[in-house]
Amino acid sequence: MTEQLKQIQACFNKASKSYDDVACVQKDSAGFLVNKLLEHQDFVPRNVLDAGTGTGYIPELLLQKFPQTLFYLNDIALEMLEVCKAKFAKTPNIYYIPGDMLELDADLYDCVISNFALQWSSDLQYAINFLHSKSSDIFAFSTLLDGTFNDWHNIISDYQSTKILDYPKAEELISLCTTLKRNDQGFEYWLMDYPLSFNNPIGFMRYLKSLGASAPGNLVRLSNLKKLLKTEAQSLTVTYKIFFGIFRRVSE
Ligand SMILES: C[S@@+](CC[C@H](N)C(=O)[O-])C[C@H]1O[C@@H](n2cnc3c(N)ncnc32)[C@H](O)[C@@H]1O
Repeated sequence: MTEQLKQIQACFNKASKSYDDVACVQKDSAGFLVNKLLEHQDFVPRNVLDAGTGTGYIPELLLQKFPQTLFYLNDIALEMLEVCKAKFAKTPNIYYIPGDMLELDADLYDCVISNFALQWSSDLQYAINFLHSKSSDIFAFSTLLDGTFNDWHNIISDYQSTKILDYPKAEELISLCTTLKRNDQGFEYWLMDYPLSFNNPIGFMRYLKSLGASAPGNLVRLSNLKKLLKTEAQSLTVTYKIFFGIFRRVSE
């Protein structure tokens, strides 16, 4: 496993108990994606893979509609899967696949879904291509776009040079997905801006930690934090820019 992936795994393991307290954007995003998925849903999937399932928002929603479907929940953070195991203790049709989503073996699933996890991949194009190839009927995903947290990066860039997280532009994702789309598939997408407000920068940093999203590009070094807090004690709003995409096999 790469150092980067080990760090991601450690952050999400640590956040497994606090994630549900703060993940309102991720939960709403799961709801949006599932609603779009069900809008034209005329088949019942035999099996669903949720890649980077976290605490299981996607299976929670889909189980209401497809109680008999087999669900395969993947995550790199074992502690996240433990939360799912406790949540779904009474649901026999759920299976757990710990590990890197990009090393899943050659099984093919009726429906592959991934909410708010692909942005953690070091090669997003490869990840989308890979998960698309593992779906026979539907591949539905959400991920973050260029411009996410720009407001935050503008604040901290006055105190330290930051590694701006490398999210794609919507046009790049649309072009990739149009290329990947098979002849028997349709592709639809949606864009969403989701602002969140905090009382002060430290509130935002605590939020990132509880979420497991304390990637180096978002955090401020301790020595700079004091300076920042002296001058930047005011409230701030950060904006998530979210891309939702669904590939769907169309009946002839
Ligand atoms: C922001 S959370 C989203 C969780 C969930 N899908 C949701 O809707 O709330 C991202 C999740 O992706 C997982 N993850 C990140 N990289 C991964 C990888 N390469 N393979 C599998 N899981 C990964 C993390 O451990 C974390 O649980």
